[in-house]
Amino acid sequence: MIDPETTAQLDDEARHILRANDKEGYTVPTKGLYPFQWNWDSALTALGIATYDANRAWQEIEKLLSAQWDNGMVPHIVFWQHEEGYFPGPGEWQSGQTPPTSGITQPPVAATVVRQLASSLPGDHGARVTPMLHALDRWHQWFADARDPDGRGVVAIMHPWESGRDNLPDWDEPLSHVDTSTVGTFLRRDTQIVNEAERPQNHDYDHYMALVQFGRNCQWDVKTIAETCPFWVAEPAMNAILRRAERDLVALALQFNLPEIARRATARLARLGQGFNQLWSDDAQGYVTLNLRHDKKDNRLTSGSWLSLYGGPENDNRAKAHYSTLMEWRRKISFTVPSFDPNDAAFDDIRYWRGPVWAMINWMIATGLAEHGRHDLAEMIANDTAALIAKSGFREYFSPVTGQGGGGKDFSWTAAMWLYWASPTARPKTETP
Ligand code: GLC
Repeated sequence: MIDPETTAQLDDEARHILRANDKEGYTVPTKGLYPFQWNWDSALTALGIATYDANRAWQEIEKLLSAQWDNGMVPHIVFWQHEEGYFPGPGEWQSGQTPPTSGITQPPVAATVVRQLASSLPGDHGARVTPMLHALDRWHQWFADARDPDGRGVVAIMHPWESGRDNLPDWDEPLSHVDTSTVGTFLRRDTQIVNEAERPQNHDYDHYMALVQFGRNCQWDVKTIAETCPFWVAEPAMNAILRRAERDLVALALQFNLPEIARRATARLARLGQGFNQLWSDDAQGYVTLNLRHDKKDNRLTSGSWLSLYGGPENDNRAKAHYSTLMEWRRKISFTVPSFDPNDAAFDDIRYWRGPVWAMINWMIATGLAEHGRHDLAEMIANDTAALIAKSGFREYFSPVTGQGGGGKDFSWTAAMWLYWASPTARPKTETP
């Protein structure tokens, strides 16, 4: 266990990082590598900020939602200020928005965060929360309309970056159908800042840019994207996070007397509840990625598979399968939860989403485990997360094998997850509503 003195030092350091990454109303994930507002980073970071500054935590969400598109989408990056040389920047995305944004979204954790803040912070939040709930309702409706126009009950992503798990091996097969012949040459910025061995490969990046080009060419028209985007994939993390967000939105709408929102969110939730089963794989005994364009399942498990427990109530047999696989993975590596199956040939413990552990995914998995009564497993994950941070600092992610830190340093959501959840000083407070 981490001693009280180290705990106090890490608590201070985490607050210092969040304050240093604060850009007046929003927090950058880390300086240099990610110098703008990122969607789910910002929402999850608000949980950490709330441990010392309630007003500033609310601002984080308000600022993010203020960049919502007219069609309801809340973008994955908001370019609030100019940053020389960032790639791919506003010129590549050409979203036509003010402020400029990317053209895609990210996992909608914001409603869940708003519920956490509203239930844990003192005061009457009605005036502040009501406009947020209207914005969240529009965003969730956008998911239903734009990303599941056929009403099958799972939402699709049109770019790996939409999942927030950028270079997961799950995308390799769906990306192989994306034509990269018109991408041309470009200069990546990420590999100038971070060790190349930890980042996606150039081959992957060509495919990412081809999809950005596709979106730009159709001016991010959701109908064209749904009908013809070569990458159209349903994956368990995005769908589980959206289910959770809809449940939290229903609860908030009832609490703040917005029955129309509660009604719409309940209907969307029912559709997602039925659809999620399409991602179950008997072979893998877990939830997996489904390439909707080619109706092809990837029978490999990822950290996203465990989020079914966070998304909603799980049946006993499937829950048991999750617990035993989790323990089987734990025996293979030293720190849970790896982003990809450590038994698989594609596992790479330090290359971005092909193996490493992320603190905020761990928080979500642990939350789902605790809600299913597995406080022991939730605690194991919290302890592993704390041990990683104590060993390697507030890095972007960590090797599940060695505990070594990777990617960016002084990372906001790692600091936030420490303050809100993994630090020994946070433990008694982390009961979800
Ligand atoms: C990477 C991650 C994504 C995150 C962003 C900023 O792109 O894959 O999930 O939002 O970095 O931290």
